[in-house]
Parts: sequence; C-alpha cells; structure tokens
Amino acid sequence: MSSKWFRNRASCSGIWCRFHDSHPEYLARHYWWAYLWRWGVWFFDHQPIISAILFGQYKTLSQRALRNCMRNRPEGRLLQLTCAYGSMTPSLLNAMDDELYLMDVAEIQLNATQKKLADADKERLLCARMNAEHLAYADDAFTTVLIFFLLHELPPDARERSISETIRVLRPGGRFVIAEYGACPRKNLLWRLWPTRMLLQWLEPFLESFWQVDLAAMLDEHANKQGKAVRQVDEFHCFAEFYRVSVFELEKLP
Ligand SMILES: C[S@@+](CC[C@H](N)C(=O)[O-])C[C@H]1O[C@@H](n2cnc3c(N)ncnc32)[C@H](O)[C@@H]1O
Repeated sequence: MSSKWFRNRASCSGIWCRFHDSHPEYLARHYWWAYLWRWGVWFFDHQPIISAILFGQYKTLSQRALRNCMRNRPEGRLLQLTCAYGSMTPSLLNAMDDELYLMDVAEIQLNATQKKLADADKERLLCARMNAEHLAYADDAFTTVLIFFLLHELPPDARERSISETIRVLRPGGRFVIAEYGACPRKNLLWRLWPTRMLLQWLEPFLESFWQVDLAAMLDEHANKQGKAVRQVDEFHCFAEFYRVSVFELEKLP
C-alpha cells in the first residue's frame, strides 16, 4: 500500500474516514450514515422511512419514473444508475422480461438491493460495482437510463462527470428518465421557511447547487460535446414543484 494512502488515512479524522477507503470522499464524508453504514442502510430501506424522507411522495415519484421507463420503451438495455431505497429496482424487474443493469459504488447497497428480490429476478439483475463518474460500460450500450435521486447528492464536478458518462453510454434514440428535486422551489413552504431550508441544506449539502442547475441545458451541453443532442419530452411535477420526473430523448447531431 502506498505511503500516500497512509498519509491520507493518518490525516483523516471523523467517523466518515472509516468509510472513505473505497468510496468517493463526498459520499463517505456527507452520506456515510445514510448509504454506507450497515445500520443506516438497514434503517433507511424501510418503505415508511423512505416515504417520509420524500414527504409522502415516494409512491407517486417511483410509479411515474417506472411508467416513463416502460411506456414504449426503446428496444435495448436498461440501466438504473445507482441503487435506491424502496421498491424501485424490484418494480422495474417486475415490469420487464429482460435484464436490468444496476451499478453503484457501494457494495453494501448492491447487496441490499439483491436481498429485496425474488430468486427468479436475481438472475435478471446484472449488478456491477463502479463509480458513476467513470462508467465501465461501452459507448451507446443502453437505450434507457433511469437516475433516481442521485444528481442532487453529487458535488457539481462529480455531477458533470456522471452526466457526461451517462450520455456516453446512452445510444442516440435512447431515453433518460430522471427523478429529482425540482428547480429552486420558491413556491414550497419547506423552501420559504428558513429553518426547514437550512435543515435540508445541512442534510443535503449539494442540493443548493443542484437547485441552480438548468438540467435540460446541462444535459444538452454534455451531449453536444459528444456529437449528440438532448430533447426534453416530458416533465411531471409534484409537491408544489418540489420534486419532478423528467424524460429526455437523446439524438445524434447531424
Ligand atoms: C440514488 S442515490 C439516492 C437515492 C434516494 N435517496 C433513495 O434511496 O431513494 C444513493 C445511491 O447512490 C450511490 N452513489 C453515490 N455516489 C455515487 C457514485 N459516484 N457512483 C456510484 N454510486 C454512487 C450511493 O452509494 C447510494 O447507493
């Protein structure tokens, strides 16, 4: 092991350092308790908890995302970009006959997802441990990609790299389905009230920067760099525009 590893380890203090070894720093530092700590994973992966975290909107958002993935689904492979608590992955598998690709940087998350599946479905879930910022899949490997509440958890540079990688692996003619926080939700009481806004920003340190992003423009900018273009075909809002499910189609630039 390199001396750099020991130096980093020695200079790192706080519980989160225990989780840093094989995970991105932002994930270990800000979300170890939610995604990497086994008791956290056990606690959060209960339907009432995940529903409460999304202020009762989980069912609406997951059903909408599922429908957007499945309706007239382009022929080809479907990738779920990172695990999600709740029934998103089992529901996707129930709705399809072919294989579902799932990647996540945390082994504990991939294991937890597999435990939620019936034996017959396990064989159709092709799990791989990797970082969304550097996907190990081939260019144009997928025709549908679902991203369920990942982007707001990424620091801006990691978000940009993950989006660029997702565009690389999505074939022109393919579809992005993104369930996320809406753009800056000025109409929502949770944003208007200073204490709840502060609490949200403390729990979700990169949400503020995500609120400022023009998602469609960002996707299109990355697509253009790869000779592709992104066209928004659907947008659903709920909870006074606090959340959204957006659908984009990828095209090849002439
Ligand atoms: C999809 S997001 C949040 C999902 C949402 N809060 C829920 O559970 O419904 C959380 C997942 O993203 C994963 N993750 C975060 N950063 C990642 C990265 N750079 N590459 C791959 N997986 C990542 C975490 O390990 C975790 O499993």
